[in-house]
Amino acid sequence: MAAPAHRVSARLSAIAPSATLAVDAKAKALKAEGRPVIGFGAGEPDFPTPDYIVEAAVQAARDPRNHRYSPAAGLPELREAVAAKTLRDSGVALEAAQVLVTNGGKQAVYNTFAALLDPQDEVLVPSPFWTTYPEAIRLAGGVPVDVFAGPDTGYKVSVEQLEAARTEHTKVLLFVSPSNPTGAVYSPEETRAIGEWALEHGLWVVTDEIYEHLTYDGMPFTSIVAAVPGLADQAVILNGVAKTYAMTGWRVGWMAGPVDVITAAANLQSHATSNVANVSQRAALAAVAGPLDAVDEMKTAFDRRRRAMVEGLNRVPGFSCPTPEGAFYAYVDAREALGRTYRGGVTPATSAELAAFILEQAEVAVVPGEAFGPSGYLRLSYALGDDDLAEGVQRIEALLSE
Ligand SMILES: Cc1ncc(COP(=O)(O)O)c(C=O)c1O
Repeated sequence: MAAPAHRVSARLSAIAPSATLAVDAKAKALKAEGRPVIGFGAGEPDFPTPDYIVEAAVQAARDPRNHRYSPAAGLPELREAVAAKTLRDSGVALEAAQVLVTNGGKQAVYNTFAALLDPQDEVLVPSPFWTTYPEAIRLAGGVPVDVFAGPDTGYKVSVEQLEAARTEHTKVLLFVSPSNPTGAVYSPEETRAIGEWALEHGLWVVTDEIYEHLTYDGMPFTSIVAAVPGLADQAVILNGVAKTYAMTGWRVGWMAGPVDVITAAANLQSHATSNVANVSQRAALAAVAGPLDAVDEMKTAFDRRRRAMVEGLNRVPGFSCPTPEGAFYAYVDAREALGRTYRGGVTPATSAELAAFILEQAEVAVVPGEAFGPSGYLRLSYALGDDDLAEGVQRIEALLSE
């Protein structure tokens, strides 16, 4: 019998190439040519990890206990500390056995959907969404169902929209506040209304709280599980140290939820990756068990840049940018800037073409909306230095004003 002709599996062939990475690759290529590219693409704080966390890692590296395999679900001390931290920050009480330490928040996303979904199960995904979610859902055999909310509602979906998208196959609602890519933050009332609707219909809620400490203008962070405690047995909280402690490279995240789901995900992880690097787990332990001063400092800088960014972007002809209340992204409605003819007779019809034009002509990298849902939008991270930020926005304004 002949072997199957296809080389790459249908499952992996179906993964969409990341539009974020395409922009990044082009920006890096231009930089390598020596061109002064300013990047608004980064999804990470531009600060170093606080010293006391780095010091904990240095000590851990010298301790032979950390040179060996450790439990696949995470160091017991870290699972305890994450449970305590979740009570402190989210207002949700957990046992350590309800926490699985993962290789970054990203692995928590994959594990969670793998643990919850069977083929054809639908997940309601408020859009614009972070690029990884639909791929993780599809890889688990599930079906992502986009529910789009535009700038008119501050990029926040309503219960009515969610209800209109619900079918007999809907198993999970994904809830992300503060949001990547839009920076939207749901108010306590909005969060409660959505949580109560999910509970009423017996839906699971997967809630990504990774930007919990980055809210501005006095906007509170609300954990949907604390707002609607009845969800506790059908909710998974995703989180990690990356954004709060400027630790993107350390790769520590976690998922927290009912023991059966956590155990299933831990079984998967025990075959896929085993324990997260012990040195990183020790650093994460110092982070979550420690103070929040460092994130408060970062927040002051982000808040200043956020204001400068929104003000500058709203000066660009054809751009409209609502003020984001969380995370470190601005999400521009650039639809009015499309279909116009610019330098060199270029007439971008999509946000992907507009982003490519801005990169080529202004040497500024922004991520097109196609990476996160519909075309017509641009995501700009304000996790970069004040001078670069001002210069980058000014270059875009100059180019699109010509
Ligand atoms: C919304 C959201 N969740 C999770 C993550 C995962 O972060 P990490 O895998 O670096 O912990 C990110 C990173 O960009 C994110 O934006």
